Amino acid sequence: MCGIVGIVDKDHPVSPIIHEALQRLEYRGYDSAGIATIYQNAIFMKKDKGKIKEIHEKLDLDKLPGTTGIGHTRWATHGLPSRINAHPHVDCTNKIAVVHNGIIENFLDLREELGKRHTFVSETDTEIIPHLIEEIITKTKCDLRTATKRALQKIRGNYALVIIYVKEPHKLVVARNGSPLVIGIGEKVDYCASDIPALLPFTRKVVLLNDGEMATIQCDEISIETINGAVAVEPKIFDVPWTPEMAQKGGYPHFMLKEIHEQPHALNGTLMIRPEIIDQIAKVLNDSEKVYITAAGTSNHAGLAGKYMLSKLSALRSQAITSSEFQESTVNLIDDGTTILAISQSGETADTLNAVKFAKSNGARIVSITNVMGSTISRLSDLTLYTQAGPEIGVAATKTFIVQLASLALISLQLADIIGKLNGSEIEQFREELLQTPRIIEKTIKKQESLIRDIAYEHANKQNFLFLGRGISTATAMEGSLKLKEVAYIHSEAYPAGESKHGAIALIEPGFPVVFVTPPDETHEKIIGNIMEMKAREATIMSIADEQDYEIQKLSDKTIGIPQTPTPFSPITYVIPLQLFAYYAATKRGYDPDKPRNLAKSVTVL
Ligand code: G6P
Repeated sequence: MCGIVGIVDKDHPVSPIIHEALQRLEYRGYDSAGIATIYQNAIFMKKDKGKIKEIHEKLDLDKLPGTTGIGHTRWATHGLPSRINAHPHVDCTNKIAVVHNGIIENFLDLREELGKRHTFVSETDTEIIPHLIEEIITKTKCDLRTATKRALQKIRGNYALVIIYVKEPHKLVVARNGSPLVIGIGEKVDYCASDIPALLPFTRKVVLLNDGEMATIQCDEISIETINGAVAVEPKIFDVPWTPEMAQKGGYPHFMLKEIHEQPHALNGTLMIRPEIIDQIAKVLNDSEKVYITAAGTSNHAGLAGKYMLSKLSALRSQAITSSEFQESTVNLIDDGTTILAISQSGETADTLNAVKFAKSNGARIVSITNVMGSTISRLSDLTLYTQAGPEIGVAATKTFIVQLASLALISLQLADIIGKLNGSEIEQFREELLQTPRIIEKTIKKQESLIRDIAYEHANKQNFLFLGRGISTATAMEGSLKLKEVAYIHSEAYPAGESKHGAIALIEPGFPVVFVTPPDETHEKIIGNIMEMKAREATIMSIADEQDYEIQKLSDKTIGIPQTPTPFSPITYVIPLQLFAYYAATKRGYDPDKPRNLAKSVTVL
């Protein structure tokens, strides 16, 4: 989704730093980019469609003069990707420039009204903002802060905004309502950006704006207030624990590969989470009449696996519902006896936030699992468990998936302890086994990566794949299928293996690749039946199985062996070969797995 940056510096030109920060936002997904600065009472602007590197080669983004500026990476919503639609957008007098992430819902009405007096050049909703501010300043002769506030009171929708004005050249005015925005504090320089990784090389001191707040940022002063009303808000400075190195490739060709390899470390950190928060969450779940798990994309697959873990280990009845369908599926079902377990690595996914807000407004308690401190989801939640994966830059989630799984495993075990579903020594054994998972992943990568690469290279030209699993492995299969679609652009479907005979099997012809996820759990015998069905139709069978599972090996054309993993935790280790498979299929096909087309890391629109 769109990325925004703003910098106000006492002494130095800002465009090279804005350029660098925009590159750090590339992972969010975008189709055009631009920068505007203020210099000698004028706006200087460079923007175009395409990748930042191409735009820079053409226009030299580092050569804009001025010590105050804004930048943007655009992910098209209103209007095609083009130079005209790229941000920043300016008013008729070319004195006010704006970058925006989000959607202005009433833009058509505002555009019609403003169109009588102003000239619009783009198709974007954003362009109404500079014109509206221009009109307010012209009429009332007020300053940028006041004009922005008045303009925002007329606007409905989601936004993170940064605005500059040539008559107040050492100032950024920013606002947030439903789209992420952080302010960074430096020495004689201040920043703002869509997310923390963009600012990591420059500062680790940040202030988080809440929805409905705006701020005026000058080099040595930040003032925050509410948009609707005159309430001043005390800025709270927060030290970010992430280092700049964590958001770099560290010698790997892609972030996705680096993040796959980082999983043992991410998992170790998460398994050491404060037991108090796990205990508090388990108690809330235990006290609830109804529990819904909700999430989107990869987090949704973690939620689905979580549902199985909670039922198997701690007999908790829960339902996992994808966030975009949450409200429709639970109309009339949410009340103050309900708890929502919301999972989101970014904590900013609009669908998930929407589900949470809906449930909260109906009296539900909100418990969340997220990887980003201070993210919106954490601020909407009664309790938040922070996973310890460090920043994840690859658009396709990998390490955050397994830390979400580990968190759900810890919660399930704690709940089993509270309700006495498992006895003390059983719990201890499960905990011990869970602590072994980082080592199992390490071994799997070491032993199997080259075999997985070879298999991926061999099958990278296939048009379709089927991923099958039973029980908790359905979630693993779904995640493997999603990874392949996302980064290698190969059509794939995931099914519960038992359900495949009710439809997907019609697709099978000789050589059709079917990936089975077959840990040695209680579904093992049945899935062998499903493998036989596919084999009988001459499918090519690839299996992820226990390294000692000779039966599966015999039935499969290719098998990736996984060291023994306790069965309720199998998704944590069995997903690793599937992530690597997707990665190598993507690179073999010549795609950049870090920036898959049309996708965004954090989807902040509904
Ligand atoms: C986008 C990303 C996915 C991610 C999903 C949910 O679609 O491309 O990788 O799984 O959003 O994101 P969240 O931050 O809520 O986990």
